[in-house]
Amino acid sequence: MIPNSNQTVQFYLDDELIQIPIENQQETLLDFIRLKKNNTSVKEGCGEGDCGACLVLQAQTEQGKLVYKPVNSCIKFVPALHKKSIYTAKYISKSLQELHPVQQAMVTCHGSQCGFCTPGFVISLLAHYLDSQSKKANEDEVINAISGNLCRCTGYRPIIEAGLQMQEFNEPIRFSRADAFSVERLQ
Ligand code: FES
Ligand code: FES
Repeated sequence: MIPNSNQTVQFYLDDELIQIPIENQQETLLDFIRLKKNNTSVKEGCGEGDCGACLVLQAQTEQGKLVYKPVNSCIKFVPALHKKSIYTAKYISKSLQELHPVQQAMVTCHGSQCGFCTPGFVISLLAHYLDSQSKKANEDEVINAISGNLCRCTGYRPIIEAGLQMQEFNEPIRFSRADAFSVERLQ
């Protein structure tokens, strides 16, 4: 739902409630995160929705159920965030005070070198982790989950391995399939 031009956009960014008038319809979520919130952990690559460096996790309720998906913040405009929750990869480990299983698997499998693409891959794998009905890893599904991400230096094999191993770690207290906290807040 996008509010009218005289209304206020209300959404959560990394658990902070954001309420802003719709004064600049052209502002992207990427600019808002990097320039207004000084959070440069979300990267700008192509700026056109092709590389996945700017991915963030979006949560919204659909029929009382929390649905997660990765969104390219470089082509997502702020008014479209109304009544949604957005999480950055950096905040996920900060709020848990430890690495999420997806992040731990990336470390264990050496899925990162320069790190520029890494937050984006973490978000794609996390969305897949949260939406998977089964804990059984499936290589085709992992490859499909990261099909919107580009990496220039690591190569994809270690990242696919991380996607296969992430299910083997203990489920965290948040950002798990049973995350009731976020459902309640968005309703
Ligand atoms: Fe490349 Fe957003 S910066 S998809
Ligand atoms: Fe350098 Fe992926 S780790 S671009």
